[in-house]
Amino acid sequence: MWSLKFHSLPLFLTLVALICQQYCDAKVMMEYIGATGKPVTFDPVPVEEGIDFHFLLGFAIDADPSGNAQNGVFSPYWAQTLTPDSVAAVKQKHPNVKVLASLSGWSLGNKVLRWYNPKDNQLWISNAFSSLKSISEEYHLDGIDIDYENFPRNNASFAHCIGELITLLKNNSVISVATIAPFHTTVLPYIELFNNYADVIDYVNHQFYTDKVRRPKGYLKAFQLRASQFHKDKLLPSYEVNGRGIQGDAFFDALNLLEANGFGVNGVMIYSADASSSNNYYYESKSQAYLINNTTRV
Ligand SMILES: *[C@@H]1O[C@H](CO)[C@@H](O)[C@H](O)[C@H]1NC(C)=O
Ligand SMILES: *[C@@H]1O[C@H](CO)[C@@H](O)[C@H](O)[C@H]1NC(C)=O
Ligand SMILES: *[C@@H]1O[C@H](CO)[C@@H](O)[C@H](O)[C@H]1NC(C)=O
Ligand SMILES: *[C@@H]1O[C@H](CO)[C@@H](O)[C@H](O)[C@H]1NC(C)=O
Repeated sequence: MWSLKFHSLPLFLTLVALICQQYCDAKVMMEYIGATGKPVTFDPVPVEEGIDFHFLLGFAIDADPSGNAQNGVFSPYWAQTLTPDSVAAVKQKHPNVKVLASLSGWSLGNKVLRWYNPKDNQLWISNAFSSLKSISEEYHLDGIDIDYENFPRNNASFAHCIGELITLLKNNSVISVATIAPFHTTVLPYIELFNNYADVIDYVNHQFYTDKVRRPKGYLKAFQLRASQFHKDKLLPSYEVNGRGIQGDAFFDALNLLEANGFGVNGVMIYSADASSSNNYYYESKSQAYLINNTTRV
C-alpha cells in the first residue's frame, strides 16, 4: 500500500496541476437566473470551456410564501423550471459550471424583503445552516451568494450572522464558493461583512448598474471606489441586461479602461439570463470571449 501511494503521488500531483490549470485559476462568469418567474432553463445559456461559470439561482428566501420571516429557515423560490435534475444535467454537460443559491433578493410577490435582527443569532445561524444544507443537497449546489437589499438602521447582526453562516457551511464542506452582492446604498453592512470574513468570501458581485454610471470613465471611477471598499481582485464588473447603468458595447470599453488602469478583470457578473433570452445571450457570449482572450488572472 505504502509504496503504491508513494509512487502514485507525483502522478496525482500532476493530475491536480492539470485540472487546476483548467479550472482553479480560470476567470469567472456569474449569471443570475430564475428571479423573474419566467420559465427559464440553463440549456440555452452559452457556457465556454476554460471559464469558471457560476449560475446564481434567484432566490432562496428566509420566508414563507406570504413573505413572513421564518427565523433562518430558507426555501427555494427560483423558477420551478430550474429543477434539481436540470442542475445535475448542466453540471454534467459542463464540468466548469457551479450553481449557487442567492439569498433573499429584493422582494417575494409584492412583499419587500429585508434583513431583520434575529431574536437569537445562534438559532438563526443554525436554522439557516440546516435549511441551506438540505437545499444544497437536493439541488446539487456549490455555494451561496448574499443578496440582502434592505436593512434596518441597526444592522450589526447581518455581518455576524451571515459571516458565521458562510464559515460554517464552508467548514462542513456543504459549499465551496461564497459571493456577496452589495449595491449602491447597501455597501456599509457588506463592508462590515467583508472586513470580518474576507477569508471565506470568494467574489464581490457589486451591482455597478446601481451606481448610475453610463460611460466607461464613470465606470472606472465607480470601480476605483468599490475596489477601495472591498478587495480589487475579488471585485467583478457587472452588467444589467436591458437595465440600469452602462448599456451596450460601452460595457466592454469600460472593461478595457479598467485593464488600462491596472485593474485585472477576473470575471464578469450579469443580471440576468431571464432578460438575455431576448437578445440571444449577446452579453454572456461577448463577456466570455473577452475573458478567454486574456487568461492572465491577477
Ligand atoms: C472553522 O474551522 C476553523 C479551523 O478548523 C476553526 O478555527 C473555526 O472556528 C471553525 N469555524 C466554525 C464557525 O465552525
Ligand atoms: C448599517 O449600520 C451602519 C452603522 O450603524 C449605518 O451607518 C448604516 O447606515 C446602516 N446601513 C444601512 C444600509 O442601513
Ligand atoms: C490581461 O489581463 C490581466 C488581468 O486581468 C491584465 O492585468 C493585463 O493587463 C491583461 N493583458 C492584456 C494584454 O490585455
Ligand atoms: C482579443 O484581443 C485582441 C488583441 O488584443 C483584440 O484585437 C480583440 O478585439 C480581442 N477580442 C475580444 C473578443 O475581446
